[in-house]
This record gives sequence, structure tokens and C-alpha cells, in this order.
Amino acid sequence: MIVLVTGASSGIGAACAARLEKAGHTVVGASRSGKGGRVLDVRDPAAIDKLLADVELEFGRIDAVVNSAGVAVGGPVEDTPLELVQAQFETNLMGAVYLFRAAAPYLRRSAPSRMIHISSLAAHIALPYQALYSASHAGANAFCQALRYEMAPHGVRVIVVEPGSFRTGLTTNRRSPELSEPYAKAARTALDSNDRDELKGVDPEQLAELVEKLLTARNPPDRCSAGLWEERIGLAARRFLPERIFRRIIGSHYGV
Ligand SMILES: NC(=O)c1ccc[n+]([C@@H]2O[C@H](COP(=O)([O-])OP(=O)(O)OC[C@H]3O[C@@H](n4cnc5c(N)ncnc54)[C@H](OP(=O)(O)O)[C@@H]3O)[C@@H](O)[C@H]2O)c1
Repeated sequence: MIVLVTGASSGIGAACAARLEKAGHTVVGASRSGKGGRVLDVRDPAAIDKLLADVELEFGRIDAVVNSAGVAVGGPVEDTPLELVQAQFETNLMGAVYLFRAAAPYLRRSAPSRMIHISSLAAHIALPYQALYSASHAGANAFCQALRYEMAPHGVRVIVVEPGSFRTGLTTNRRSPELSEPYAKAARTALDSNDRDELKGVDPEQLAELVEKLLTARNPPDRCSAGLWEERIGLAARRFLPERIFRRIIGSHYGV
């Protein structure tokens, strides 16, 4: 299988690229820095077009695209400069839109084929002081959900993976504005709690194993969560608990 993996320089994308390569697939890894692969900024539609064309020329086809390029912006919405707001949505939401839109004709040609998007549990369980991050993933989830209607008749599966806390570069790479009153104390408490969860989170190798299965399974699910059961159970709890009770439970975990 010829697989393009974005976000391949670190964390989940790097684990996926290594695992798929070890399993015998031809992997083209790409990231903003290009570390260990090609340079690709998913915010740049022209660069995406060029990379896809290059990969097809070089390998004859593209069987799957795994999109793990993402950034995290944490902090109070009011404090966050527009430049960071835009970086959050341009990477996590528009990056997925640009990439899958451009990859569609390639994947139709090689069908049966797959688009796998690495989303987050935060798409369903919005996190305190991570409103922009949560919204970027929720937007990409809705995009993928609707895209399935367009791609499925042509043999292209669109699969969303929703990880809980994993130990990756995301924690140190997270960008936050300077915290100001009246939010500073609560925001710091919530973000510190989030960092602790990620630092004791799951090894991304586990997620790579799941992605490999999703790429090769005959009938993969449209969407699946990954990580600690204590976090994933929140998906079910969210469905039957009243919104306000659920918010209190999540808020108290994050100390807000
Ligand atoms: N770790 C977790 O606990 C967790 C939980 C839920 C969801 N996720 C999601 O999983 C995805 C991967 O995150 P990670 O945890 O693996 O974080 P990571 O270790 O920080 O890796 C992020 C990757 O995305 C790349 N990237 C960032 N901006 C990019 C851009 N504009 N164009 C191309 N590549 C770009 C980075 O490349 P450079 O290094 O070159 O910048 C890096 O390879 C993200 O969407 C994240 O929100 C992670």
C-alpha cells in the first residue's frame, strides 16, 4: 500500500509512519519541518497539490492518506490573539479540508482506498480553556462525517480516529497566549491538569497499531476512539447525562 502520512515528524503521525513502514507499506511521511520525510504545510493548498502529484508520479498511486498534522492552542478565548485562533483552525480544520479535498481524485483512482483523520475526544467532550482546539476537531469531524456520503459510493472510506490523552510532542508544542485576569488562575489550573493527563497518557505506538488495522480491515468502522477507558467512557456518559451535570464532572476533573 502507498500511504501518505501527515504530521509524520512527531507523536502519533511519527508512530503511524514507522509502524506502517515496518509492516511493509510504502510510506511517504510529511510535516511542516520535513523532519524524517517531505516538507508539507497543510495550510498551503498548492503545496498539498504538488506533494500528491509527486507521490503519484513516483509510486504510481496513492492508496491511503493518514492526516495527523495538528496543533494545540490552549487558553482563554478572550486572551487568544487572532493569529493563534487562525493557526488552530487553519491547521486542524482547514488543513483536513484542503488535504482530503485534494486527495479525493487520487483515492478514487486507487479505490478501494482510505482517508484516515486523527481527530480527538475533544471533538465530543469540549475541554475547559481549549475551546478553539475542541472546536477545530469538532469541525473536522463534521466535515468527515458529511464527506463519507460523497466518497463511499466511489470506494473511498473516510475514517475518524478520536484519541484521548497520548504521550506526544503536543504537550510541549501547545501554544498559549499570555494569561490575564480574570481567567489566569483557572486557565493555568485547567491547562496544567491537561498536561498531566497527556504526560501519563498512552504510548502513540498503540494508536499506530489501531491505524494499521483500520487501513487493512475489510470493513473498518467510520469512527473509533482510542486511549484510556476512563476518558473514552466520557463519550457514553455525555449521551445520557444532562449537559449541565456532564459539564460539572469535566470541569471538576480540570479543577475549574
Ligand atoms: N497527543 C494527544 O494526547 C492527542 C489527543 C487527541 C488528539 N490528538 C491529535 O492528534 C494529532 C497529532 O498530534 P500529536 O499528539 O502527534 O502531536 P505532535 O507530537 O505535536 O505532532 C504534531 C505533528 O503535526 C505536524 N504539524 C503541525 N502543524 C502542521 C502543518 N501546518 N502542516 C503540516 N504538519 C503540521 C507537526 O510537524 P512539525 O513538527 O514539523 O511542526 C508534527 O509532525 C493532532 O491533531 C492532535 O490534536 C492528540
